[in-house]
Amino acid sequence: MIVTGKTRVCGVIGDPIEHTLSPIIHNAAFEALNLDYVFLAFKVKSAWVEAAVNGMRALNLRGLNVTMPHKSAVMNYLDRIDLSAQIVNSVNTILNKENLLFGFNTDGIGALKALKENGVELKGRKILLLGAGGAARAIAYTLAKEADELAVLNRTVKQAEGLAKLLEKSLSKKVVAGSLKPSDIQRNLQDSDILVNATSVGMSPNAEESPVPPKLLRSNLAVMDIVYNPVETKLAQDAKAAGAKVVSGVDMLIHQGAASFEIWTGKSAPIEVMRKVALKHLQKV
Ligand SMILES: NC(=O)c1ccc[n+]([C@@H]2O[C@H](COP(=O)([O-])OP(=O)(O)OC[C@H]3O[C@@H](n4cnc5c(N)ncnc54)[C@H](OP(=O)(O)O)[C@@H]3O)[C@@H](O)[C@H]2O)c1
Repeated sequence: MIVTGKTRVCGVIGDPIEHTLSPIIHNAAFEALNLDYVFLAFKVKSAWVEAAVNGMRALNLRGLNVTMPHKSAVMNYLDRIDLSAQIVNSVNTILNKENLLFGFNTDGIGALKALKENGVELKGRKILLLGAGGAARAIAYTLAKEADELAVLNRTVKQAEGLAKLLEKSLSKKVVAGSLKPSDIQRNLQDSDILVNATSVGMSPNAEESPVPPKLLRSNLAVMDIVYNPVETKLAQDAKAAGAKVVSGVDMLIHQGAASFEIWTGKSAPIEVMRKVALKHLQKV
């Protein structure tokens, strides 16, 4: 890759940022399509979010990904925000188009494409979603539009109730809320077709943990764990052992990244290049 005065710059802001895979994935994608773009990671402390977003205009950066803990804070400094990002109060992608900043959230579409790519049908199905944090909110909104029924369970029940109310209001669909207690999981899982873990339970270094007791898993279930480090979580291993269809968090990671890539470049993302480089890196760490 040769960086010149014409090279367009994209990046990711967050804190911490050292472990992000985004530069690896996006630079491989730019190179594969021979695009004159480069992608960098910027560690931005909360006190500097406004300056960082304004700096995007000043330095004419083409695009930014936004990760923890800035996904809501950046919304104060953008010119336009996509409706679904507004509803879930979370932006993970910013496009700079002639100095106007547009905010999007690609987590929901990333999850939806990962499920569809793995042959999981949503129409007429019931989904049980664990978690009510940033990623869970975006996923809940996108999946609830497609599926018949949704239940949201979270450690902090108030958060799940808030999300359920928000979805009921914006989508006119019944959404059940509850806790992560095994009894609540059991009750909601028995008539569900799809289980999505959007909590951070099971993420490295706590890779031996799972939010779901293995005995509750069964073969006629599709299970997606959005945690991608480790590549195969404890929940994914348990689901596989129960004979369930398993969708990896890496698939969602690639599809949400691909959606950002397409927003910035206007080109179809090289999905397989992105997946290969992400897996290669994750298997090393
Ligand atoms: N595959 C992908 O593309 C992708 C994209 C985004 C995020 N992720 C992964 O998804 C996970 C969540 O990310 P996020 O951005 O949504 O984070 P977040 O906003 O901080 O939300 C964290 C969620 O996990 C729950 N949680 C945390 N620790 C828990 C524990 N010990 N027991 C039970 N619940 C717990 C939180 O519950 P409370 O509300 O009770 O705190 C909340 O629902 C992370 O592992 C992240 O790496 C993957």
